Amino acid sequence: MHNNNKNLSSSQVIASAMLSDEKINFRQYLTSAEMKAIEHEVLIMENREAAGIEALKVVQQHRGWISDDSLVAIAQCLNISSAQLEGVATFYNLIYRQKVGRYVIHVCNSISCHLNDYENILLTISSHLGISYGQTTEDGLFTLLSNACLGNCDKSPAMMINDKHYHSLTPDSVIAILNGLSLNVGQYYD
Ligand code: FES
Repeated sequence: MHNNNKNLSSSQVIASAMLSDEKINFRQYLTSAEMKAIEHEVLIMENREAAGIEALKVVQQHRGWISDDSLVAIAQCLNISSAQLEGVATFYNLIYRQKVGRYVIHVCNSISCHLNDYENILLTISSHLGISYGQTTEDGLFTLLSNACLGNCDKSPAMMINDKHYHSLTPDSVIAILNGLSLNVGQYYD
């Protein structure tokens, strides 16, 4: 999936220029579980380079996002350059190069959703959570991002939160979904 988030993309470019491989030893940085999962991906790919996106997903799954240090460590582990791996991370919009909230909301802004009240959905989320695109709520719960078509055009407007898809959205249903997720976290910490 192509990266359509301009805020994250521009910072990725800056981060890429500042990456330094010298201070990281991937064997110390990555956990044994992460290295094991990355090696598993390498085994089922043609070569180590081809495992880049899956290796990024592995570490993101464990840490929530891909910091500069994580990117360098993964590149070392795969024996490819950090710049090469940065290119992969930049292209794929579900790899987060900045810290994100527990729930990452991807609101579809493609044509069918645009024609079916997308702006009202975005406005509802934005005003309910007090954040705009590219921002995270102060409690660290929600990050709001745009997304190209999520494949639910016949049931637009649509959004995805983490890996779950929601469609046929209305302002009321969106608020109910967000409140439900907030409540889940509250219960989780009780
Ligand atoms: S245009 Fe929004 S899901 Fe396809």
